Amino acid sequence: MALVPFDQLQGKIWMDGDIVDWSDAHIHVLSHGLHYGSVVFEGERIYNGKIFQSRAHSQRLVGSAQMLGMDMPYSVDELEQIKRETADIQGLDDAYVRVVAWRGSDQMGISAQATKTHMACAIWAWPSYFPLEARLKGIKLQTSRWKRPSPDTIPCHAKAAGLYMICTLSKHEAEAQGFDDALMHDYRGYVAEATGANVFFQDGKTLHTPTPDCFLNGITRQTVMQLAKDHGLEVIERHIKPEEIADFHGCFITGSAAEVTPVALIDEHEFVVSDEIRALLTAYDALVRA
Ligand SMILES: Cc1ncc(COP(=O)(O)O)c(C=O)c1O
Repeated sequence: MALVPFDQLQGKIWMDGDIVDWSDAHIHVLSHGLHYGSVVFEGERIYNGKIFQSRAHSQRLVGSAQMLGMDMPYSVDELEQIKRETADIQGLDDAYVRVVAWRGSDQMGISAQATKTHMACAIWAWPSYFPLEARLKGIKLQTSRWKRPSPDTIPCHAKAAGLYMICTLSKHEAEAQGFDDALMHDYRGYVAEATGANVFFQDGKTLHTPTPDCFLNGITRQTVMQLAKDHGLEVIERHIKPEEIADFHGCFITGSAAEVTPVALIDEHEFVVSDEIRALLTAYDALVRA
């Protein structure tokens, strides 16, 4: 299937208070966000016409802007309204929602005190999952040489564009070696997360997941932790050393885009897609459509 470039999709985009044609949603080349990474964003999904955990995503966007010292001209309630309005116009049942805010071109240089924050909301069709059988085979992760940075290096809890530079580098390197995605360690050497998703490991009836002290505490992660507890699993958040990976028999990643995706391999370590992981995947799919 030929890839349609994202600037050539059809529909309308909400941009700075206006509804514009998809092909007219431009920014100036001298936008601060483009040069200096002053960009925050959200990735959300619409299931059966409803945005899952919409408010939590809006709250995170406002928090991310605050962490970057960016003015956010919209409140959480206004963001909810903007997403609803865009979703109504696009009228899609299963879709992806991207809200992005960036510093404009009012000032060009490191200092950005005079810049205004711009925002856009784009929604495009995204069927909600691969055929179940394909997902249940599990994906392959390769450990990245890039590390999640320490909290005193960068605002690591913000969903900010700048933090994805190392994710793209990691993912490209993994893909070049035949893997689907990369597993990143943190600056201390602990297991952290995949390039766009959190990670869980299974040992019997217990799930272990890295403490999110230098990366996103994903909204899906939090949802799945509750689901796991509801399914009688114990969930332990802790620092996980890479050498422990060989002791786990199951692994999966979670994210708004990834949903619950089993992992079959990390480097040379193989995992089974256990009954418990299957059950969590199914329970998550049911919850988002409830
Ligand atoms: C780096 C990173 N970690 C974790 C996540 C999972 O976050 P969420 O479940 O809120 O989508 C994402 C996705 O946004 C991500 O990009």
